[in-house]
Amino acid sequence: MKQFTSVSNLQQHLNTLRDQGLVIGFVPTMGALHGGHLALVESAQKNCDVVVVTIFVNPTQFNNEGDLSNYPKRTSEDLDLLQSANCDIVFMPSSEEVYPKDKPKFTIDLGKIATVMEGTHRPGHFQGVVNVVARFFEIIQPHSAYFGQKDFQQVAVVEKLANDLEFDVSIVPVPTKRLSNGLAMSSRNYRLTDADKENASIIYKTLLKGREWADKYSPAVTRQRMEEYFNTGKLELEYLRIVHPQSMEELQHYWVDGAIAGIAAYCGEVRLIDNMKLS
Ligand code: PAF
Repeated sequence: MKQFTSVSNLQQHLNTLRDQGLVIGFVPTMGALHGGHLALVESAQKNCDVVVVTIFVNPTQFNNEGDLSNYPKRTSEDLDLLQSANCDIVFMPSSEEVYPKDKPKFTIDLGKIATVMEGTHRPGHFQGVVNVVARFFEIIQPHSAYFGQKDFQQVAVVEKLANDLEFDVSIVPVPTKRLSNGLAMSSRNYRLTDADKENASIIYKTLLKGREWADKYSPAVTRQRMEEYFNTGKLELEYLRIVHPQSMEELQHYWVDGAIAGIAAYCGEVRLIDNMKLS
């Protein structure tokens, strides 16, 4: 496994691989790797000759200083995991490499996505994701890039940025990996105790209940019942929304194909998100 920290050294190496006609897959991460990230690497390996994983805790996507400073860091464990997953290249740049002083950051008009769920509750977060993902697309020029469906709004943001900024890359969403109790795998889980993880499984249980109730009730009533069920647990709900999968408009009276329920909640200080297709 090759490791790089400088943009120019990485690009030099990738150019040689591209000249040999090799297909390059890209898996962006902020480190603190888990089974969900390994599933992204595995998907990339199925479709590509070379897989590049980035480990970079992107400061511009954190709207909360505490969240950034508490973000788990596990570099040596991450490198061991990637090595045993047969990853080809790890890129771990400094902030200065990613955001040179004289280079304007990439931004796009996010439209509706920025005004619902994560967009409302984490102002500036998605523009930060655009800054970093577009910059990595520019540096790496991958043929395809892999993103977890746990962050389904992020997938929509990345599809929009690839389209708006005309990056020639296919965006591949990968299904969420879960612990045996249903809790979605997340780097933030490193901050949870075993008891917290058990309590946090209420998120998944609520989503399953939503799927059951979607057969009987309207979206508005399903949402209300899901909230009531969620509140029998120990987490603090930030939002629960049932939305159209493309427009992200909230659904009230009628179901549409692929309607998605999204939840954000606090387990103590740790913010967790998850989602599920209900219909
Ligand atoms: O999903 C994440 O971990 C981050 O948002 C990403 C895509 C690596 C960009 O920093």
